[in-house]
Amino acid sequence: MDTIKNINFNRAATSGEKPEYIINAAKNYIEENSFNQVGRGSGCGGAEAILETRIAIADLVGLDSPMGVAFTSGATESLNMLINGLAYKGVDNPLTFDYTNGQTNYPLEMLENRAIPAHPHIVFSCYEHNAVIRPVYNLVQRGLATAEIIHPDLESLKNAFNGSDAEEKILILNNASNVFGNILPIEELFAYAKKQGAYTIVDVSQTLGHIDVKMSANTDAIAFTGHKGLKGLQGSGGIIVKKDFAKRLSIWKAGGTGSGSDSFEMPLFMPDKFEAGTPNNLGIYTLGEAARAIQAKGIDAIRQEEMALFEYLLEKISTLPVTIVSPHIEKHGKILIEEQIPVLSITVEDYDLSLLASDLSRDYGIQTRIGLHCAPFAHISMGTMPQGTMRISLSSTNTKEEIDELIRALGELL
Ligand SMILES: Cc1ncc(COP(=O)(O)O)c(C=O)c1O
Repeated sequence: MDTIKNINFNRAATSGEKPEYIINAAKNYIEENSFNQVGRGSGCGGAEAILETRIAIADLVGLDSPMGVAFTSGATESLNMLINGLAYKGVDNPLTFDYTNGQTNYPLEMLENRAIPAHPHIVFSCYEHNAVIRPVYNLVQRGLATAEIIHPDLESLKNAFNGSDAEEKILILNNASNVFGNILPIEELFAYAKKQGAYTIVDVSQTLGHIDVKMSANTDAIAFTGHKGLKGLQGSGGIIVKKDFAKRLSIWKAGGTGSGSDSFEMPLFMPDKFEAGTPNNLGIYTLGEAARAIQAKGIDAIRQEEMALFEYLLEKISTLPVTIVSPHIEKHGKILIEEQIPVLSITVEDYDLSLLASDLSRDYGIQTRIGLHCAPFAHISMGTMPQGTMRISLSSTNTKEEIDELIRALGELL
């Protein structure tokens, strides 16, 4: 049996091999900038490079202020920051040290303005990742929030909002399912949520770099990761927030910022308010290159390439004894390409999925991902709990030949 090694159809997990411009950017950064306390003060080349990354990311999503971009270690930290940051309110009274008499004992009880629990009602879709589910659950478990999981349709959202008398409501939606690839009707649901005075958060982990993600009028916050569609380094990502929302969001992670250091409280200005600790400058720097590369090629061109491959995959795999699992198929009888990212879930009969994945890997060098993909409610909604599915996810660097190889392999195994 002739084998092609290292065919990566697990792009939804992480991008895989890095493009040359990312590798070069990382190399340049290490050689030229790593001695700088980047992000801490001005005047060093590294700090400018990080600012350029803010500008590039803001440009990519159409946000007018680059200071609305704060970097994190990835979408998980971003979502924790957004979810936990809304659990409390009333914190904007920084208390500075009185250092004139050399006093070192500061009773923290002298704080006048204490944060108060906001007890929000958090609504999120059945397609959310555990990076949403678990932080929300954590709040609910501590009595700090109520929550509801809905199908992402208007009727369900109305019911969820009407069923709660919480003063603050939050809607969190995954831009596209990391399991089935269906794009959610974000704008329709966010428009309704905004009319109800709710806060709106979108998780673009699976879409940034694949589709045209924009900070719309009805979006308060975006959580993104660097290591998937942006093809950046693992451990990079961020939040992108509007000004008013940034003011409302309380601090969840506190520490040194190199600014306002004479205060107990985090600085209240962006992006310092949400960037405690030494940043992952290498990862952040490469994200700037990633965003500029996407702009240079054009997101429409990237999408066209990816979806042409996806359609090819769909056509070929439909000839095999596999079941394609998709909310589109359940609702419309077929996958709607314009509402899909290049992620496909399948199940097979009489072949354990983990065995199939390991046979594909060992005998054909083809990588897929099986199981629940950290999104249990997505599987509950499609009846694939607890076994999960086999996920085949593409990027524009995959080829038709690789798809042919996958089809040949599946044809031989099934
Ligand atoms: C939809 C979604 N949200 C959040 C995450 C978490 O992203 P990160 O790896 O950056 O923490 C993932 C990662 O798989 C994801 O697919």
